[in-house]
Amino acid sequence: MSTVYLNGDFLPLDEARVPVLDRGFMFGDGIYEVIPVYDGMPFHADRHMGRLENSLAAIRIHNPLAREQWLELLTELVNRNGGGECSLYLQVTRGVAKREHAFPAQVTPTVFAMCNSRHAARPEGVSAVLREDYRWGRCDIKAISLLANVLLRQEAVEAGADETILVRDGMVTEAAASSVFVVRDDFIVTPPKSPMSLPGVTRDVLLEILDAAGLPCIEGQIKVEDLREADEIWLTGSSLEVAPVIQLEGQAVGNGKPGMVWKRAWKEFQQHKARFREASTQ
Ligand SMILES: Cc1ncc(COP(=O)(O)O)c(C=O)c1O
Repeated sequence: MSTVYLNGDFLPLDEARVPVLDRGFMFGDGIYEVIPVYDGMPFHADRHMGRLENSLAAIRIHNPLAREQWLELLTELVNRNGGGECSLYLQVTRGVAKREHAFPAQVTPTVFAMCNSRHAARPEGVSAVLREDYRWGRCDIKAISLLANVLLRQEAVEAGADETILVRDGMVTEAAASSVFVVRDDFIVTPPKSPMSLPGVTRDVLLEILDAAGLPCIEGQIKVEDLREADEIWLTGSSLEVAPVIQLEGQAVGNGKPGMVWKRAWKEFQQHKARFREASTQ
């Protein structure tokens, strides 16, 4: 049984309880983070903490812990779960109060964290479908209210695919739970940051890795037509790392195999991880 953290205590998962009036349960009024852990060390923890702070500020929940306290808590949680390779999930909701839409006057945020096994990366390639992005206008907040993402991902599963790439007003925003990159005529492009997509940590890390490797990526709009005519499409995310999309809407992307540019990006990303592992064991 894994050990989780809830409001100041470490306890077995099946003993962790949250009251039904928690606003996370009632309204989806909260935010979350997912952080990959390699060799017991959270990967780019500072970037995830930065995004957590932005998400909390955006929904006006006072951050219940300082950054150092978060890191201490998460490291302790990883250690109590045996360290090694896993994925940290942490969630902060506005707390427990009588059900009224507006913020309660006095409320203490609920803080929960758990350590899960990490989904495997997919270097062999994934498939995707394309759907209209009907989510709200603040997709830059990592909100726990993920109903639209859930429904959109389910469409991929029911079509026998892995992920759903989202299009708003003819432009790619991101995917149901990952960021999107496209390679066309040797140009690598990813949509610019905006309120319509989550600022992916893996996306940002990959942009820096590509730049350092002499493979600069342009932050620009991707039209649906560009996607359909792309030589390569990649998805990035904390568990997925950098995955080549080899099939879109049942049609092969490029030659239907992971592309040459992706191969370099993958290699550079793995080297970056190896350097992180080395640094964290010193
Ligand atoms: C909607 C969405 N976009 C992008 C991402 C990728 O973000 P990250 O690279 O920080 O995991 C995620 C991850 O869960 C996501 O849910």
